[in-house]
Amino acid sequence: MHKDIESILVCEKEIENIVNSIAKLIEKDYNCREFIMIGILKGSMTFMADLMRKINMDFSVDFISASSYQGAYSTGNLEIYRDIDCDVSGKDILIVEDIVDTGVTLEHIKKHLIEKNAKSVKICTLFDKPAERKVDIFPDYTGLTVPDVFIVGYGLDYNELYRNLPYVGILNPSVYT
Ligand code: XMP
Ligand code: MG
Repeated sequence: MHKDIESILVCEKEIENIVNSIAKLIEKDYNCREFIMIGILKGSMTFMADLMRKINMDFSVDFISASSYQGAYSTGNLEIYRDIDCDVSGKDILIVEDIVDTGVTLEHIKKHLIEKNAKSVKICTLFDKPAERKVDIFPDYTGLTVPDVFIVGYGLDYNELYRNLPYVGILNPSVYT
């Protein structure tokens, strides 16, 4: 285990099981109805790479790079660093996110896609941390609800580190306090 990790919250095998069950739900719900999967960079990259390969139907993918975060505390503002390339007008959209915390990031991104005339916008998140929720955002697909701790690994970072860990662990607070 990495020295900055207090404990492992979700091991590799558990992540795999979670990803598989979300993929089955998505396949069933969309039932061959095409959609665009939009990943929120960078945190969702690992989850999305695994998830998309488990969904056995046609869909296209795109990415948006946006964040309402600085370090371990949310600023509540959203900044778009890189917008989507595709035309979402009239299309069904599935946003893929690593973790929903305050919900501010997703609220802004959902609004952004609706303003671009998306037909429907659903949310798929690997983790949901409802303790600090500031807005009414209800993910359509959630891998795991987690307590109010700062987690890293499997794409999730603290100051751009730990994304490469194959498991998700609770970061030792001494790293950010
Ligand atoms: P909001 O508050 O807008 O933020 O829902 C969601 C984004 O905040 C980041 N975030 C975390 N990143 N471990 C992380 O590595 C965490 O425990 C955590 N909580 C929030 C993340 O980028 C997410 O997309
Ligand atoms: Mg994120």
